[in-house]
Amino acid sequence: MTESNVTVAPGVLDGLDAWRDLPIKQQPDWGDAEAVSRVTAELSKLPPLVFAGEVDQLKDRLAQVAAGNAFLLQGGDCAETFDGATADRIRNRVKTILQMAVVLTYAAAMPIVKMGRMAGQFAKPRSSDHETRDGVTLPAYRGDIVNGYEFTAESRQADPSRILQGYHTAASTLNLIRAFTQGGFADLREVHSWNRGFAENPANKRYETVAKEIDRAIKFMAAAGADFDSLKRVEFYSSHEGLLMDYERPMTRIDSRTGNPYNTSAHFVWIGERTRDLDGAHIDFFSRISNPIGIKLGPSTTPKMVHRLIDILDPQRTPGRLTFITRMGSGVIRDVLPPLLAAVKESDALPVWVSDPMHGNGITTPNGYKTRRFDDVVDEVKGFFEAHRQVDTFPGGIHVELTGDDVTECLGGSEMIDEETLASRYESLCDPRLNHKQSLELAFLVAEELAARD
Ligand code: TRP
Ligand code: MN
Repeated sequence: MTESNVTVAPGVLDGLDAWRDLPIKQQPDWGDAEAVSRVTAELSKLPPLVFAGEVDQLKDRLAQVAAGNAFLLQGGDCAETFDGATADRIRNRVKTILQMAVVLTYAAAMPIVKMGRMAGQFAKPRSSDHETRDGVTLPAYRGDIVNGYEFTAESRQADPSRILQGYHTAASTLNLIRAFTQGGFADLREVHSWNRGFAENPANKRYETVAKEIDRAIKFMAAAGADFDSLKRVEFYSSHEGLLMDYERPMTRIDSRTGNPYNTSAHFVWIGERTRDLDGAHIDFFSRISNPIGIKLGPSTTPKMVHRLIDILDPQRTPGRLTFITRMGSGVIRDVLPPLLAAVKESDALPVWVSDPMHGNGITTPNGYKTRRFDDVVDEVKGFFEAHRQVDTFPGGIHVELTGDDVTECLGGSEMIDEETLASRYESLCDPRLNHKQSLELAFLVAEELAARD
């Protein structure tokens, strides 16, 4: 990708470093500047994790979403950990996303664009640079790519060598994802058979009808002899929050086909609510790469801000380039989202609109757990669909924090996890995630919304 005979337009390379002179947020204090230069120089020579052609293909898929002809399912951990990059856990997450995707494909009768919050979701923004426990103050945990979670001075010291470990962990995760999604594991018929088990559980009776309908559709295909390649494989894209510039910049390379810069650490990156300042470093940098990008929008977003973001990040109005990921909170989404949708609808822009029903709905229980109520998550998704119905825009997808394991981090769902149960298997180092069953239940509920659209 970085061939020397590529023609690069004047100023492109300088532009990729313009962010260095701008105000920047949420970067660690590495301490050892020389070690950082060594690591970033090494990283910039390591092979890209994704190919620019795949990134373009995703952009085409997202253009279909923007136009109302496909739906995006984006899911994975709040923060991936290096220890968590095991075969079992990666498989369980991919499996969960695929199971959700089958239900959504059937209900929407549209292609589902499948995307993991995976293979690079290692850096976390924090509300404070420090954390104090029992009178001891240490640097906050910023994700495995920066420092350790353990509350000791040594572990919390930011360590640049973790950037390389992040790259290698992302590479092996993505390698396994590619194997699973291309090598037979993702066969539609197999994935549906896993869902049957879920719907047969008496607690999920409500979803049995849809599961049976899918069953009949699959039997019909089998009877008709339909056995084409696309039943056996899925396209699966990687994504993470584009936050840590000492990772994102060295992974950005010039595409030898076009001379354009691509962030090759993932197919899709998003800019968080905390780092999307219009004249800050992140917006400048991500405005210059060719990947499709996402922007998180919270409840204080104004139509004016949205217009500015569009002008800076998508001046050419490229189909599929820009995705707005709204995280409003179930209590306010019906009030704050419609005006934003209306303002964009009146303009010449056509972004993808995605609901993140997780981040606006955090609560802390009296016994001290950071959690979310499943019902609030569902209610935000419903509010998202209502807002789009009201303004006549397309609800393009959902972005969820989930795991394939049977953790107990979010309250409710058909297993009715309560405050006491949270303690039994609470594993997240960061935000609470939907477990396997809650994720499937959400898919069935979103399916009902999608099916009710026309
Ligand atoms: N390739 C098709 C798709 O991605 C069908 C498909 C195969 C599928 N396996 C799947 C869909 C697993 C959802 C889940 O839509
Ligand atoms: Mn989170």
